[in-house]
Amino acid sequence: MDNLKVQVCIIGGGPSGLLLSQLLHLKGIDNVVLEKHSREYVLGRIRAGVLEHGFAALMREAACGERMDREGEIHHGFFIAHDGVLDRVDLHKYSGGNSVVVYGQTELTRDLYDARARMNGKVIHNVDDVKIHEVTSDRPYVTYRDGDRIVRVECEYVIGADGFHGVSRKTIPKDVLREYERLYPFGWLGVLSRTTPVSPELIYSKHERGFALCSLRSQVLSRYYIQVPLEDNVEDWSDDAFWAELKRRLPQEVADRLITGPSIEKSIAPLRSFVAEPMSYGRLFLAGDAAHIVPPTGARGLNSAASDIYYLYHAMLDHYQKGDDAGLRNYSQKALARVWKAQRFSWWMTTMLHRFPSNLPYEDKLQNTELEYLFSSEKAMGSLAENYVGLPF
Ligand code: FAD
Ligand code: PHB
Repeated sequence: MDNLKVQVCIIGGGPSGLLLSQLLHLKGIDNVVLEKHSREYVLGRIRAGVLEHGFAALMREAACGERMDREGEIHHGFFIAHDGVLDRVDLHKYSGGNSVVVYGQTELTRDLYDARARMNGKVIHNVDDVKIHEVTSDRPYVTYRDGDRIVRVECEYVIGADGFHGVSRKTIPKDVLREYERLYPFGWLGVLSRTTPVSPELIYSKHERGFALCSLRSQVLSRYYIQVPLEDNVEDWSDDAFWAELKRRLPQEVADRLITGPSIEKSIAPLRSFVAEPMSYGRLFLAGDAAHIVPPTGARGLNSAASDIYYLYHAMLDHYQKGDDAGLRNYSQKALARVWKAQRFSWWMTTMLHRFPSNLPYEDKLQNTELEYLFSSEKAMGSLAENYVGLPF
């Protein structure tokens, strides 16, 4: 068996794991990232597009903000389409001057990988069979398989940043872990296309045929989504069928100027709300999708991962620089308080904008009233705006 010794062993080379690795490295805290897949595979997953300003600040602190600041777009608002009209949410006005950055998760992850490589950070790809051992002792360790070799990583802390399907959360005993979950009876079919976006700002569209979203990665790269039944398969949807359905769900003037083109990527993501409590067990700390999932409607998933990393990073600094363990002890409680607020907001946005096939006519009426109230009340608008740009860490 080969041996490796680090202070912190991070499982998962998605945005959560890489960001923490980069931040810790800059402060001289030795760490390794163990990633199940290749770099190309991780970068091939098309996911988030909207970053809250606190996340952008953390990227800069991690010395990874240069390209994001150059190529990312600052958005001061977005549109909600309903009943054939477009209403604008002025994030800047209603959040007291804040905004979001439109910059794809793929690009952000690429920047983090490049920074790790530049600094000779330890990121090991294609690891198999990761197992976490003795996390309730002072000397935990992680093992993985590399071909025929078993490698043992000795460490002081283990970070579970291995996403929803990872092994870390499953290491916490069943009588300790409590899971809260809600599945939605639909998914999002997403298409990426090399076309000029239909709108410079995002459009969230509520329609009786189902929800649709017009998003973008840049002024030449568009990302569109439509709500589809859970039973649908990507193969059921030709590009032509996708564009036709998207157009039906948009106000006429928007549909008329939509530029279509071949899809570069097409996938279906089921919608799920999920929280695991606690987010720490002994010397294991969960972060990001490993501990919680939101439906993408409020653009909170990656942003919630960033706030976990913020708390964890500062807790680790307090431990290694001041010998103060209060941050580590309180991590789960502190992170969960913000996680649940992101859950509430994502559930609210999802409920307000999607078509629920089992809704009573009464519930449809309430859904419409929710929107009417939103656009008639500055206070309701303030609540939406402060959540969308991100509550303070
Ligand atoms: P992941 O990105 O899942 O990374 C975990 C990593 O761990 C992966 O690379 C995986 O290969 C690796 N791994 C898994 N198991 C193991 C193992 N056993 N051993 C080693 N490694 C392992 N969020 C937003 O904030 N804004 C948005 O606009 C937004 N839009 C979205 C749109 C869609 C369609 C989807 C699906 C998600 C969206 N999200 C959005 C959510 C966001 O993409 C996730 O919250 C984010 O990827 C979480 O990052 P993570 O690093 O915690 O987990
Ligand atoms: C995206 O561009 O992928 C995106 C944007 C906003 C969301 C969800 C996804 O709420």
